[in-house]
Amino acid sequence: MTEMKKGVLVGGSGLIGGTIVNYYKKYPDLAVDIRAPSSKKLSIRVSEDICDYIRQVKPDFIINAAMANLGADGKLSCEVNYLGAINLARAALSLGIPLIHISSSATLPVGENLSEDDTVPLTPGLSNYAKSKLMAEITLKKMAQEQGLDYTCIRLAIVYGAHDHKIQGFHRMLFSIADESMPVLFTKKNTLHSYSNSRKLPYFIDYILGKRNEFSGQTYHFVDPDAVDLATLILKVKSYLNLNKPREIYAPFWLANLGTKSLNVMLRVLRQVGLQASMPPELMFLENFYKPQTLSATKLQESSFIDPFPGETVFTRLPDLVVYYITRWDHENLIMGFKECFDTEKSLESIFCDNPIDLVEEVHKEGVGPYEQLTQS
Ligand SMILES: NC(=O)c1ccc[n+]([C@@H]2O[C@H](COP(=O)([O-])OP(=O)(O)OC[C@H]3O[C@@H](n4cnc5c(N)ncnc54)[C@H](OP(=O)(O)O)[C@@H]3O)[C@@H](O)[C@H]2O)c1
Repeated sequence: MTEMKKGVLVGGSGLIGGTIVNYYKKYPDLAVDIRAPSSKKLSIRVSEDICDYIRQVKPDFIINAAMANLGADGKLSCEVNYLGAINLARAALSLGIPLIHISSSATLPVGENLSEDDTVPLTPGLSNYAKSKLMAEITLKKMAQEQGLDYTCIRLAIVYGAHDHKIQGFHRMLFSIADESMPVLFTKKNTLHSYSNSRKLPYFIDYILGKRNEFSGQTYHFVDPDAVDLATLILKVKSYLNLNKPREIYAPFWLANLGTKSLNVMLRVLRQVGLQASMPPELMFLENFYKPQTLSATKLQESSFIDPFPGETVFTRLPDLVVYYITRWDHENLIMGFKECFDTEKSLESIFCDNPIDLVEEVHKEGVGPYEQLTQS
């Protein structure tokens, strides 16, 4: 019988962490008991929290999928993304167990076919997010070289996948198109970016945890092999949603930048009269919509890991993701007008709204007794 392994994952309520937790739940045969305490129970900002928790659980590995909100100030970004990551690494080092650290292409410059060594220089002017993620990468590398930390750094680019409750990055773009708040294309023709498929990531993590000789001390770009043109992707989403916007007009960067700045001024005024409003933090990456950033997947492809879904790309996942997010946002009343097209549970909602008595009868008929699987044994 396979021996059960215990893993501690931080960031389990997030897009990436949640996907990893779901994976281990879905495949119990992998014999991994994954513990994902919330940030209230284990805040990586507090080293005592980490020591207490790790001492109690005694895990066989740690995965760090936590991050401060993209728009967080310097203190929070530093405490979560940098010092928190190092706190976890020190715990892993103390127990001699592997640490899987999730990082970001924000640590890389713009450009094409960037390798794992192509980081931006560490300067005060970097965004809080990029700076703190880069600082974590630098210190983890030093800890591996000088103290023997067994870690793997996985850099993600623009992530696509289900369960993004915060609506960030790619899903923010999807939202802006569905919400028709993107009148024209805020990019220029042929601007290529790399994309990361969150669905494939847990397969990689599970694999590399079993192959420490090959993957320890290494950084990998976990990206789809082919880069994607931003305008093509936006227009594809628009055609799935059958919308008229955004128009196929390319807004130049200076205009988009001016628009963002003017909106910022307006929002500041609104806040002064007590109205809560803020810009999506993704706009800090506005310049990146106009410049290519493609990450080389060569090191990943040349590793012994085999892609579980080789044909899958952001385009092949798009139909499912569009249905998933539009249905969800429609239910949450964040967007309107798509129910007819996508709502697979329409009948439940209509019965709930119009015939609650029928619904109660139906539920009673289905059975409301104790669960058999809980009462047996
Ligand atoms: N999403 C992307 O497009 C993208 C792209 C590139 C790289 N990445 C990387 O992927 C990783 C995960 O990102 P994500 O998109 O999944 O983030 P997310 O959805 O924003 O989730 C962040 C997670 O971090 C947790 N967290 C925040 N502060 C914490 C603290 N002090 N202690 C413990 N946990 C804390 C949050 O827990 P609570 O909810 O309990 O606070 C939440 O579970 C990050 O390293 C990020 O840099 C993401």
